[in-house]
Amino acid sequence: MHNLDRLILKSPAKINLLLKILGKREDGYHEIVSLMQAIDLQDEIILEKRDRGVTISTDHPDCPADENNLAFRAARLFLEEFNIKEGVNINIRKKIPIAAGLGGGSSDAAATLKGMSRLFAPEVPATKLHHLATGLGSDVPFFLGSGQALAKGRGEKLEPVTIFDDYWLVLVYPGFGVSTRWAYETFKISLTKIKKEFNLNILENRDDFFKALPGFDNDLEEVVKERYPVIGQIEDILTSSGAVKSSMSGSGPTVYSVFEQKPKAEEVARKIRRGDWEVFLTQPIPVYV
Ligand code: C5P
Repeated sequence: MHNLDRLILKSPAKINLLLKILGKREDGYHEIVSLMQAIDLQDEIILEKRDRGVTISTDHPDCPADENNLAFRAARLFLEEFNIKEGVNINIRKKIPIAAGLGGGSSDAAATLKGMSRLFAPEVPATKLHHLATGLGSDVPFFLGSGQALAKGRGEKLEPVTIFDDYWLVLVYPGFGVSTRWAYETFKISLTKIKKEFNLNILENRDDFFKALPGFDNDLEEVVKERYPVIGQIEDILTSSGAVKSSMSGSGPTVYSVFEQKPKAEEVARKIRRGDWEVFLTQPIPVYV
């Protein structure tokens, strides 16, 4: 094995094309079904070997640079688990907004786990990484996969799906974070939308995908929107501008909207920019494991 001392990794954001809450579990989590898609809005993680322990720095003032950072915890867990005496320095270049419903922190943690195994222990089995990822957070295992999945359980049970992915996304992040825990705690199971059956076998085909998409709900949307009405305002603007679908991602507050063609998405992205809103023009991407 060659001596690898430094690694640069990309960690993509995700959107939830569908997020259904099935019920509350005994362990306090919620049982969900979610269609998840990785997107080309990516943080960059630089891992560098050091003598001992974990150190971390980031270029974003709101991103914790201590053990509150999930990437820090991922690295520490990895060192402990494999009894590794050396350490690592993590530097995160943030592009993904924080606490935005885009899975940025989870993705950074997953990328760190992948990077740690390349730096220190290349033989780590995928099931072991998945187990470590699950311990870090419900969304972390998704980012170890291909970039598309049907997530079940609390989000960690992943089933492979092939979803049409040749479209454009306009994302609007309204400039504040939302706590995932708060969103789930505030959600009432009576708000679960029972309607619309979805057939996941037909999502590979463009026409079927665009037909099915508007019927995919995010069950967390109602409670988060009630507390932060700006989310509804953003959705209204995006919907009236011709998006195939506009929805909150995860526990919010980021709203994504789907466009079939790039020029239209570009135009909408240009026009919607204002105040504190951060706007991203992006696309689905596969994740390379
Ligand atoms: O798993 P993670 O730490 O990212 O979840 C953050 C919080 O979101 C949990 O503490 C829990 O309150 C809530 N959650 C939930 N059901 C899920 C995922 C998260 O209730 N499926």
